[in-house]
Amino acid sequence: MKANLSVSRHDTISVVDKRLYGSFIEHLGRAVYDGIYEPEHQNANNDGFRVDVEEVVKELNVPIIRYPGGNFVSGYKWEDGIGPKEARPKKLDLAWRSMETNQVGIHEFAKWAQGVNAEVNMAVNLGTRGIQEAVECLEYCNFEGGTYWSELRKKNGEEKPFNIKTWSLGNEMDGPWQIGHKTADEYGRLAAETAKAMKLVDDSIELVVCGSSTSTMPTFGDWERIVLEHTYDYVDYLSLHCYYGNKEDDLGNYLSQSLDMDRFIKTVVSICDYVKVKKGSKKQINLSFDEWNVWYHSNDQDKEQAPWQVAPPLLEDIYNFEDALMVGCLLITLLKNADRVKIACLAQLVNVIAPIMTEKNGDTWKQTIFYPFMQVSNYGRGTVLTPHLTSESYKTKDFDEVPYIETIAIHNEEKEELVIFAVNRSEDTSIAFTFEEDGFEMESISEATELAGYDKKDTNESNHELVTLSIKTDVVLENDIISTIMKPLSWNVIRIKTK
Ligand code: AHR
Repeated sequence: MKANLSVSRHDTISVVDKRLYGSFIEHLGRAVYDGIYEPEHQNANNDGFRVDVEEVVKELNVPIIRYPGGNFVSGYKWEDGIGPKEARPKKLDLAWRSMETNQVGIHEFAKWAQGVNAEVNMAVNLGTRGIQEAVECLEYCNFEGGTYWSELRKKNGEEKPFNIKTWSLGNEMDGPWQIGHKTADEYGRLAAETAKAMKLVDDSIELVVCGSSTSTMPTFGDWERIVLEHTYDYVDYLSLHCYYGNKEDDLGNYLSQSLDMDRFIKTVVSICDYVKVKKGSKKQINLSFDEWNVWYHSNDQDKEQAPWQVAPPLLEDIYNFEDALMVGCLLITLLKNADRVKIACLAQLVNVIAPIMTEKNGDTWKQTIFYPFMQVSNYGRGTVLTPHLTSESYKTKDFDEVPYIETIAIHNEEKEELVIFAVNRSEDTSIAFTFEEDGFEMESISEATELAGYDKKDTNESNHELVTLSIKTDVVLENDIISTIMKPLSWNVIRIKTK
């Protein structure tokens, strides 16, 4: 089988907003406690955070991290997590039916995020709380001084404002499982008034309003329209969430689900633009795909967890090789839509549906999905080039035409390189892949790697990282054309030095 990708310097999608490579840490399971924070661990720093975990997080180069939830935020009192640690209350977390010790709060998390070179995307509680608490949280975080809340921040050890620029207005408020679940009109009104008041405190912030929690919600479409009709003038981004899983063990169909993500994004863009026209607005609302990943492996084991534990092992999906390919397809899809998707968060970062796992008192290790995310986050910076692809296709349960190759190329002007990301979805056939460009001068191949040759169900584990990158040795640059063989079920990254 053959496939060709051709791009031009003069035919581009968008410059990538670096926040496309964001992630997410929720007070959930072992993400915070016994994840990034484990004061008794031999690698913990003076603040109780694990330095070995920080080092692995840094490899992912995540520029923004959403915090503190997720479903958790809809019952959270941010004030419980400030002040002397010994005085912080233990509370029931109703979202995950766990015990929250509040040993980590805004101060600790902001400092940790800074240490891994990430901004915080702070979510406020619009489930059980409202305008006043959101405004006070913002004043506490961003106001210089001289007010009750800003002086309290100083008293609690932080002289300078945290200066958090991206704020999320609640979480999945369309979901009946959400604490404080609302109708689109109820949420839209509350979000609009909260946004208005927050921008009065600090007009430099950007706000994300909740879209649907999946595209399969019965309210999908109407929810986006109604919420935007209320909030359009006050917010900057609309959120999307989506998780995939190979529940039916149908790999061809599973890997085709990036087409579902693409359709989801395009549908939401059209709703945003419909409301823009209806309102006669000049402003464009962009998208924050602030929860995306594979999530299904841990669903059954989670039902067995007893309630009210501190840091129970919840949502600990162990990812296999096919999940890494799926994450690769989803990353390419986000890049294809980089003109409208400006923020995205791999959900989540540590232990909870995560690329990074930790053992209590033990090691940290990388899941299969770590690799495609790490490579796209590090090398997928610059301008996305419109892909012109010829590839044979196959038919699945959900899609009539799925190209065997999923691919995209980026031009990084600063580093003078072209980078190709590609997945071969075929389970049994290699693809002779060629790449042609117009407007660049390709000089040499600087690096070529693949994830390939594994059994589709292969996983990594502590002290045994079976699925890792290997060097691709067959990539050739000749007569301005790159050629290589993409193995069946493979993730491929080719970096080309340009003149
Ligand atoms: O990421 C796990 C959960 O998935 C989040 O708390 C929630 O927003 C979503 O349903």
